[in-house]
Amino acid sequence: MTIIQKGSCGESAQEPFSKTDSSLPKDRLYGRRRGHPLRDRQKRLLSDYLPRIKFPTRNIKHPFEAFASQPRALWLEIGFGGGEHSLAQHQIHSDIGYIACEVFENGICSLLSNLVQEDVKETEATVPNMLRIWNEDARILIRALPENSIEKVFLLFPDPWPKTRHAKRRFVHPERLPLLHRILTPKGQWHIASDDPTYQAWVEETMENQPYFKKIMQTNKRPESWPSTRYEQKAYKAGRSPIFWIFEKS
Ligand SMILES: C[S@@+](CC[C@H](N)C(=O)[O-])C[C@H]1O[C@@H](n2cnc3c(N)ncnc32)[C@H](O)[C@@H]1O
Repeated sequence: MTIIQKGSCGESAQEPFSKTDSSLPKDRLYGRRRGHPLRDRQKRLLSDYLPRIKFPTRNIKHPFEAFASQPRALWLEIGFGGGEHSLAQHQIHSDIGYIACEVFENGICSLLSNLVQEDVKETEATVPNMLRIWNEDARILIRALPENSIEKVFLLFPDPWPKTRHAKRRFVHPERLPLLHRILTPKGQWHIASDDPTYQAWVEETMENQPYFKKIMQTNKRPESWPSTRYEQKAYKAGRSPIFWIFEKS
């Protein structure tokens, strides 16, 4: 059983917002950044469209400034995969500034290809007002975001890293709780889902005895307000039973 004291922060917070620091603890939290070779359209999406929708951290004083209109609040998704959940949430909640993080190029291309019609040039395609993409390790952005700035964080089907010797690579980790606590607004929510039995037990254990979050929901049935993701569908096909949690900032 892990007991964490407030203030025991392994990865320190970074300020001010405009100065990001790319030096991170050496543990890599994701598998790979590249999959099968990219087609020409995918290469153009990355070279010509991604820079236009990329979340900027330089030359802005507050993350609200990254969006074309003033958001009511900011939501952050860590590891969006193919972007199904990010796209759906962004379409449903038009007043939210949505920051979608992913490092896997083929996944980023999936989301971008849903934003840019095939017959429109990537240099000219419309950029949504309220959706921005962070294509680096989410931890860099999290350390740069201001305190109390994010209303909801989504971590859906994170890489499970089932071997005990890789436990430090699990995104849900005692070292990361103070970092997420810092950026969330009062009563801000952290939504987590996992279909991996080792990770499910790990989430329960990690979140049980700590001062940063309290559990406000746990269910095996995805709430209707949560758009489905590709990894959730894969889990059902493989006969696995996901757990969906909501934790609230204490
Ligand atoms: C198992 S996939 C799940 C994708 C998606 N959430 C879903 O449910 O279909 C986990 C994703 O998280 C991404 N990821 C892991 N660690 C990350 C990090 N530190 N920053 C950004 N993305 C990360 C990986 O690249 C991978 O695509």
